[in-house]
Amino acid sequence: MALFAFVNDVLIAADEASLGISDLSIQRGYGVFDFFKTLGGVPVYPDEHLDRFFFSASRMRLAVGKSRDELKEMIGVLMKRNEIADSGIRLTLTGGYSEDGYSLARANLVISQHPLTAPITAEPNRSIRLMTYPHMRQLPEVKTIDYLMAIWLQPQLREKDADDVLYHSNGVITECPRSNFFLVTDRGVLVTPGSGVLKGITRMKVLELVKGKLANEEREVRIGELHGAKEAFITSTTKHVLPVTAIDGLRVGDGNIGPVARWVSGELYKLAAPEGAASGRF
Ligand SMILES: Cc1ncc(COP(=O)(O)O)c(C=O)c1O
Repeated sequence: MALFAFVNDVLIAADEASLGISDLSIQRGYGVFDFFKTLGGVPVYPDEHLDRFFFSASRMRLAVGKSRDELKEMIGVLMKRNEIADSGIRLTLTGGYSEDGYSLARANLVISQHPLTAPITAEPNRSIRLMTYPHMRQLPEVKTIDYLMAIWLQPQLREKDADDVLYHSNGVITECPRSNFFLVTDRGVLVTPGSGVLKGITRMKVLELVKGKLANEEREVRIGELHGAKEAFITSTTKHVLPVTAIDGLRVGDGNIGPVARWVSGELYKLAAPEGAASGRF
């Protein structure tokens, strides 16, 4: 089935949707985006994602040019047209058609919808191995379109037999290129880096759901703490909760999917499932 997408105000066949080559996203990699799921035709945490989209735009000095309600209306039109029950909706805002290829111009807005590539399940159905790498994303709290380092590292990941990268900066752990990182200490405390990261919506929901139920801390996490950890996992909109069983070739905990990752995954699933109270219809 042919999909549709918005380029600014025009709804167009997605395979014909395009931006001109003078756009600053092409010329200089300048732009922001956000990405949320729909499950069973229901957007999951749309307001939280729109909050972050407006935050990213404003931090990048880009005007969205639409109100929140206008964006919701456009997303509603797109969902009706495309009819994909389980999907990802991506809002991209670029630096615009720059006259000199460097100065900011009027932002271009693209809204597209994509089938989800992996189903979201209550139980984690796989685990991953990470490779640490020293890198700090520019403007880490902003969801920019810059994934240069992560894409460039792909061959190295294959060489090291790892599935994803875990960034650190001077020995302080931050996040993975497209997800947030959690560990469970030997004392059973759930810990996630408190700064220098994108504040993931899934991360926020995990921290909300463990409140009062499991000791937790948002703080600096040093690389040395990885090896004493009982468990580790990463979170994102599309990956949900993915247990980490090895980092730099060393086993995390007993090398199996841990009970905290299983519990968090199940609770998060209940929240985000179509019938879940936290999912929002527009
Ligand atoms: C750099 C970075 N950190 C964390 C995340 C996870 O955020 P969320 O849970 O909102 O998907 C993403 C998502 O793409 C990301 O790009």
